[in-house]
Amino acid sequence: MVSMKVIEQVSLMQSICNDALRPLVFVPTMGALHEGHASLISHARELAGTSGTVAVSIFLNPKQFNIAKDLEWYPRPFEADKALCQRTGVDLIFHPSVEEMYPCDTSIHVEENQLSQHLCGASRPGHFSGVVTVLTKLFNIVTPDRVLFGEKDWQQLVIARRLVWNLNFPTEVISHPTVREEDGLAMSSRNARLSLQDRSVASKIYEALRKTRTRTLEGESNVSALLESTRGDLESIPNSIIDYIEIVDEQTLQPLKKIIPSTTPARLLVAVKMGETRLIDNIGLTRMFHTDRDEKVAKLK
Ligand code: PAF
Repeated sequence: MVSMKVIEQVSLMQSICNDALRPLVFVPTMGALHEGHASLISHARELAGTSGTVAVSIFLNPKQFNIAKDLEWYPRPFEADKALCQRTGVDLIFHPSVEEMYPCDTSIHVEENQLSQHLCGASRPGHFSGVVTVLTKLFNIVTPDRVLFGEKDWQQLVIARRLVWNLNFPTEVISHPTVREEDGLAMSSRNARLSLQDRSVASKIYEALRKTRTRTLEGESNVSALLESTRGDLESIPNSIIDYIEIVDEQTLQPLKKIIPSTTPARLLVAVKMGETRLIDNIGLTRMFHTDRDEKVAKLK
């Protein structure tokens, strides 16, 4: 495609995607794009090649916010988002209004009843129902061949895979490694909300995750012991309140009691509140790092 198009209507997006050059690779976002998104979109561009199509949705989905203040605060820098899309090679931006996505007679919602019951689902009631509902709509509108999700929101990634599998969407879910700031903090639109003081210690969350990973690789397999030491490390971060810490099977999200690397890939997931900001992060405990970026961060330590 020659120039980037911004589309606001569902029916127009559907007909453009219907005629788009394939493969059509899709990155769903809520805007406030940062270098983590840039990396996802660049990966989408590589997957689409020069002849395929890259579509990005920028839609701040009210249905996945259980706290009104959180939605109000969420930044909406659409001009900057457009510029980031332009420089990363996006062909189509889908930017509908709330009314366009949820007309007044909306009465059907999608629910996930297993994977979303704990972790972020427990502290954000209704959140994943909002996520799977909007993803179902976006997949029907965009009809992507492939859709990309960042690994930072691991639970969302697993639920998106289940959605595609259970509802038979003819698309492939591709995961993309978490992109981190130089000090290791996972990139997130929410980081902008941290006070200077909180930002200066927020990278300790990833330090705690890496420490637990090292202990696991050195042979500690007792999950209670690993959770206890992670809790201690996270509690020592000034002004932080732990929301959850869990070690789960990274594919089923089932909590584990013991780590058996040869049979179950284990992942540590945490959510920590600093002031008004809730930060999430996760790390694979049993796999070797598999990306250049992970290794780059590893070398900083
Ligand atoms: O991760 C996000 O930005 C959102 O949850 C998503 C996937 C775009 C759905 O609104």
